[in-house]
Amino acid sequence: MTSTSPSGSPAPRDSANARSRKIVLGVAGGVAAYKACHIVRGFTERGHSVRVVPTESALNFVGAATFEALSGQHVSTGVFDRVHEVQHVRVGQEADLVVIAPATADLMARLAAGRADDLLTATCLVASCPVVVAPAMHTEMWNHRATRANVATLRDRGVTVLEPAHGRLTGPDTGAGRLPDPEQIVALSLLRLAGRDLPQDLSGRRVLITAGGTRESIDPVRYLGNHSSGRQGFALAEVAAQRGAEVTLIAGATDELPIPCGAEVIRISSARELAKEIDCRAADQDIIIMAAAVADYRPTVTAPAKLKKTSESAPTGIELTENPDILAGLIAARREGRVPEDTVIVGFAAETGDDSGSVLDHAIRKIRRKGCDLLMCNDVGSGKVFGRSRNRGWLITPDGSVVEVPDGTKLEVASLLLDSVVQITAER
Ligand code: PMT
Repeated sequence: MTSTSPSGSPAPRDSANARSRKIVLGVAGGVAAYKACHIVRGFTERGHSVRVVPTESALNFVGAATFEALSGQHVSTGVFDRVHEVQHVRVGQEADLVVIAPATADLMARLAAGRADDLLTATCLVASCPVVVAPAMHTEMWNHRATRANVATLRDRGVTVLEPAHGRLTGPDTGAGRLPDPEQIVALSLLRLAGRDLPQDLSGRRVLITAGGTRESIDPVRYLGNHSSGRQGFALAEVAAQRGAEVTLIAGATDELPIPCGAEVIRISSARELAKEIDCRAADQDIIIMAAAVADYRPTVTAPAKLKKTSESAPTGIELTENPDILAGLIAARREGRVPEDTVIVGFAAETGDDSGSVLDHAIRKIRRKGCDLLMCNDVGSGKVFGRSRNRGWLITPDGSVVEVPDGTKLEVASLLLDSVVQITAER
């Protein structure tokens, strides 16, 4: 895929499904409580109603007035406030989704023990809707056997406990335990609300994912690139990591996107850099997903200095050389035993229909040519897909069977695609 010069990526348009839902946002007492304000905004801006239920200690970090102003709803922490409304029952019964962010180690222990000693824990006992918990704490607390046991208990009961991000913690230290970006929490919670769970079915699997577009330099200033924003590849990495996988994400040029929680991110620029990074890692992977938009061609020569627009030296054309087909190279490496034979290899096809066939015709020809185990075909004509927060398309297997992927957020598409990958893995 090659197109001359990038244009500004289109701004993402988010969840078109405008049905307003009732969301309870629980906030526990950690420094990350300030991020809950952005989470309230994330939900309300998508048209949902948010009832904030903080713990008493959360109010040491953010005042009730802030949550009331942002949500437009009354805020209370205890079961003895507005007793006549029987809040501890009503709030949970009416909720379509409960999200707790941040969740401290103490709050998770209380949830796991089935306590109901404040409005938030009582609400969780009453709620029959999906519950999403986003933990935030120091790495030692996150790794403690007591916390691990509580997380396992909650997951066992159907609660979605998100993996925390890695990064700067409250003090000078860094590690696992940071609250994910508010946008990630909102998007993953809405994925759960859309009926897509995050089972731990990729636990222990090593997954390599590519994302974004490559840039092929013409000179130190200009390049050949494409419109990929990296959103679909990052969504795959996010969902795979939340499903327990050890994820390596090789990213080319992308929009500014939050790092998927727990993923190792390697930045590349050109197709040949991407090929080199994949070469080093492919032999150790259980699953490889090529969502990057890789340039098929690069300028044969990269000028060492900026090409000048003077009449004597004006460039008359750009001679191109074909880039390696990385996906085809992976299939060959697997055939020759340099990549394990049970590694699942998934390709993407960014297609447009033309006189020689429909989008789907081209994609079916592509999977036959490339020989991968699964191909996600997206119709990228007329401004669809690139840079958007939604996608749709078809999943195609080598025997030519086609499953439609309905319109959904890129997280929803990622979730469906990974279901198919898990099924292929199970059949091996
Ligand atoms: O990033 P977004 O804005 O979210 O948009 C998502 C997307 C449209 C970029 C993504 O979903 C997508 O379709 N990615 C693949 C785009 C592409 O390069 O398609 P292709 O038909 O040119 O290539 C087919 C497959 O071969 C791809 O898996 C590609 O990674 C791989 N390839 C292509 C060329 C090459 N030299 N080496 C390769 O490995």
